[in-house]
Amino acid sequence: MTAPTWHHGVTARWWAEFNTSGPEIEYFRRHVEAGQPALDLACGTGRLLLPYLRDGLDVDGCDVSADMIELCREAAEREGLAPRLYTQPKHQLDLPRRYRTIFMCGALGVGSTRAEDVQSLDRVYEHLEPGGRFVLDNEVPYAEGNGWELWPSEGRRTLPRARRPAGKRDVGADGTEYELRSRVLDLDPLEQRITREMQAFMWRDGELVAADEQLLTLTLYLKDEIVLMLERAGFVEVTARAALTDAEPTAADDFLVYTARRPPSADARA
Ligand SMILES: C[S@@+](CC[C@H](N)C(=O)[O-])C[C@H]1O[C@@H](n2cnc3c(N)ncnc32)[C@H](O)[C@@H]1O
Repeated sequence: MTAPTWHHGVTARWWAEFNTSGPEIEYFRRHVEAGQPALDLACGTGRLLLPYLRDGLDVDGCDVSADMIELCREAAEREGLAPRLYTQPKHQLDLPRRYRTIFMCGALGVGSTRAEDVQSLDRVYEHLEPGGRFVLDNEVPYAEGNGWELWPSEGRRTLPRARRPAGKRDVGADGTEYELRSRVLDLDPLEQRITREMQAFMWRDGELVAADEQLLTLTLYLKDEIVLMLERAGFVEVTARAALTDAEPTAADDFLVYTARRPPSADARA
């Protein structure tokens, strides 16, 4: 059983409508151009995948959410594109192809436990050609808004947080209105896991037509844990850099990017 995630239903629609840009697209593009075929692991509704396909890059996509994959496919088909898309959890990744590059943006620990994340790294390794690269980003747990203040016992005593009142609605291209609300329910410092309640609402012509309520768990990692997890999975040349500049990371960097290589010939795990 995969840990809870919220990228379904109204949330998936919100994602397809509003989450279509960002500097990560250009950043990860360089890695895809340097090694094809590539796999966008946890591709969501195709924020990165669709621009790459548009430019003729050879990239497949995989995500646990059938709703996200379906919306990605619909968007691709509107542009006459026919990507290979798969609905699978990353810790059970089992695809017919092997890749020069696998990239994962905003998905380590999202809706997955530590054990599943460890397993995911093994599955990524198996899906890379020898010498192929894995690139992923991750937000540090002490970044603003990640609930660092909730780790000590006095912080945890404030949980669960109260539900938020109604807030700002986002308006889609067809006039559909959306609102997402979230609150922290729990933080488990032993498991390094934060559990959020996520609500998603959708209105048409001022009338509420859908409302979803889901849990989202996020497993939080410090830099050296990720480096060690990658090395344990058999990767070599593991680096951690500041996103998205590739500079040596400092305490001021909230996002880090990790690159790791499957050894070119003899399997390091054999
Ligand atoms: C924050 S979104 C990022 C989507 C996309 N990579 C992007 O940057 O726009 C996280 C994605 O991870 C997917 N996801 C969550 N748990 C997963 C799992 N166990 N296996 C594969 N994908 C998962 C979600 O469905 C969602 O599409």
